[in-house]
Amino acid sequence: MAEIMKKAFVIGHPIKHSRSPMIHGHWLAKHGIDGSYQAIDVAPRDFADFLASMQANGYRGGNVTIPHKEAAFAGVTRRDHAADEIGAVNTLWLEDGTLWGGNTDGHGFAANLDDYAAGWAANGPAVVLGAGGASRAVIHALKERGVGDIRIVNRTLARAIELRDRFGAGVSAHEMAATAELLGDAGLLVNTTALGMQGNEGLPADPTLLPDHAVVNDIVYVPIETPLLAAARTRGLKTVDGLGMLLNQAVPGFERWFGVRPKVTAELRALIVADL
Ligand code: ATR
Repeated sequence: MAEIMKKAFVIGHPIKHSRSPMIHGHWLAKHGIDGSYQAIDVAPRDFADFLASMQANGYRGGNVTIPHKEAAFAGVTRRDHAADEIGAVNTLWLEDGTLWGGNTDGHGFAANLDDYAAGWAANGPAVVLGAGGASRAVIHALKERGVGDIRIVNRTLARAIELRDRFGAGVSAHEMAATAELLGDAGLLVNTTALGMQGNEGLPADPTLLPDHAVVNDIVYVPIETPLLAAARTRGLKTVDGLGMLLNQAVPGFERWFGVRPKVTAELRALIVADL
């Protein structure tokens, strides 16, 4: 009997700018898997129906992106630990007929730093700029990796306080005016705000205030070298761009749907960079 083609998806609204089909398509071809990974535009009002018919339509699972990550969190039957901590689901899969939701963004963040700044978690206090969804994934990963002093800085202080209360011990909340003081003894600076993105150029913090051993990571990857990373590099600091987070967050989902743990290679990276 011919094996049934393995099918997965990414759903969002809009979805046409997603790079996930290119990433998973590359891995499917690389491993010679008879599978498909399809981008599907699903409007918020159609999300519940999509979830309910996923299994009948032959899907093994897929990725969920903006604006469905919170609805997916509420809509699945079981959740992994990361999804519970982050409060959002970006990966769906079926296990013995049960719909599971997980969150791989924190894994993507940490794996990217592992690739380019080994030992980063023992570098000292971490300053996290921003307090949105991406920040929650980053803080979850920092806590998992044992970073004991996590300093959230946000334009809207109330949102930073919300995250501090959510994540508890070792996490503090600060207003932007305090950034300079917080950077002086930090070992890691992570930007999760939209500042520095194409069309929103600007420095979310001054990386020259960091000590020599600090690592600077921007989760923004368009442009691949943000003003923050450029300033940090000029200062002689180790920098890690955000593309590796995108590539690494895709790994656990691919493994669940298609049964092979794929690798984030220079070849894949170059493919995506050429398309940015
Ligand atoms: P995401 O899911 O990408 O984290 P988000 O939840 O919209 O997106 O969060 C965006 C983050 O970028 C927030 O921390 C936001 O600050 P506020 O909470 O004060 O809105 C931050 N941000 C966006 N534009 C900014 C700007 N021009 N200056 C400073 N912070 C900005």
